[in-house]
Amino acid sequence: MRLAIIGGGGIGQVYKTGESNPHEVKVYDTDPALSDFATFDEFMAGDRPKHYIIATPNFTHSFYVEKILSADPYAHIFVEKPGLRNVQEWITYMPNITMVKNNLYRLNVEDLKPRFSGRSCRITWHENNRVPCPGGWFTQKDKAFGGVGQDLMPHLLHFYFYIFGYEGRLVSVKKEQRTDKILPSKYGSFDPSGIFNVETFAELTFKHKDFEVILSADWDAPVEKRRIENDDDKWSFQLCPEIAYVRMLNSRQFTNDYVNHTLMDVKVHQVLDILK
Ligand SMILES: NC(=O)c1ccc[n+]([C@@H]2O[C@H](COP(=O)([O-])OP(=O)(O)OC[C@H]3O[C@@H](n4cnc5c(N)ncnc54)[C@H](O)[C@@H]3O)[C@@H](O)[C@H]2O)c1
Repeated sequence: MRLAIIGGGGIGQVYKTGESNPHEVKVYDTDPALSDFATFDEFMAGDRPKHYIIATPNFTHSFYVEKILSADPYAHIFVEKPGLRNVQEWITYMPNITMVKNNLYRLNVEDLKPRFSGRSCRITWHENNRVPCPGGWFTQKDKAFGGVGQDLMPHLLHFYFYIFGYEGRLVSVKKEQRTDKILPSKYGSFDPSGIFNVETFAELTFKHKDFEVILSADWDAPVEKRRIENDDDKWSFQLCPEIAYVRMLNSRQFTNDYVNHTLMDVKVHQVLDILK
C-alpha cells in the first residue's frame, strides 16, 4: 500500500487517479460515496502505507494528524495547505509531516531560480470568478482560517521561498474582501444560507537588501493572471498539472530533502499565521 488518502473530494481525486496503480491507493471520506471504508478505524487497519495524505477541509487537518500518529507513530503524512491550526502545532508534529508543495514539482520549476533570483519581482495568482464553493467551508473563517490568503497564497510562498530563500523581511500585509457579487462557476454557486466572511484578495511585500518581492493572490480579479515577473522576464503558469502531484508523491523529500522542507514549511506557516 503506497498511499492512504483522507478526503476524497476535489484534490483527493487528483491524488487517487494520478497514481499509476489504483489498487495501491485507499481513501477515507465521511461521504460514503467517496470512501473505501465505513469507518476511520477500518481505514487505518491493515498494512501501513508509505504515505498518508490529508486532503480534508482545513479545520480537520489537525484532528487527522493526531489520529494517524496515535495509531501509526512513524507515519509520514503530507498535509494539504494551509497546514495545521498554527505554526506551534506544526512544529510539534514536524518530524512526521510535510506540507504539500505541488507547485515545486512542476516539470520546469528549476528554470525559475536563475531567471528571477536577486531582482525585484511580482508573483501573482489572480483568478476571475473562482471563489471555491462560496458559502461553504472554504469561505468560513473558522473552517478555512481565511480566504485566498490561506488558499492560493501558500503556493506563491512556495515559489517565493524556493526562488529567493529566507532573507526577505515581510514589510506589508494587505487583505480585503473585494467581491460582493458571485456568479455561478465550475467552482460552485453561491449558497445564500452559507457563510462568506473571508478575504478574496491578499498581498504581501517582502523586502530584501536591494529589491523587493510582491506576492498577490485574488479569487476574483477583473483579469486572470498567473505569473512570476520582473522588468526583464516573465513566466506564466497554468493550474498545477497532475504530473506535479505524482512527482511530489514519488519524491524522497522525507529523507533526502528533509531539512529544506521543514524549514520552508515553518516559514510558510509563520506567514500564513500572520494572514489569519
Ligand atoms: N495543493 C493544491 O493545489 C490544492 C488544491 C485544492 C485543495 N487543496 C487543499 O485540499 C484540502 C481539500 O480541498 P478540496 O478542494 O479537495 O475540498 P473538497 O471540499 O472538495 O473535499 C473535501 C473532502 O473531504 C471530505 N470531508 C469533509 N470533512 C471530513 C472529515 N471530517 N473526515 C473525512 N472527510 C471529510 C468531504 O466529504 C470531501 O469529499 C484543503 O485543505 C485545500 O486547501 C489543495
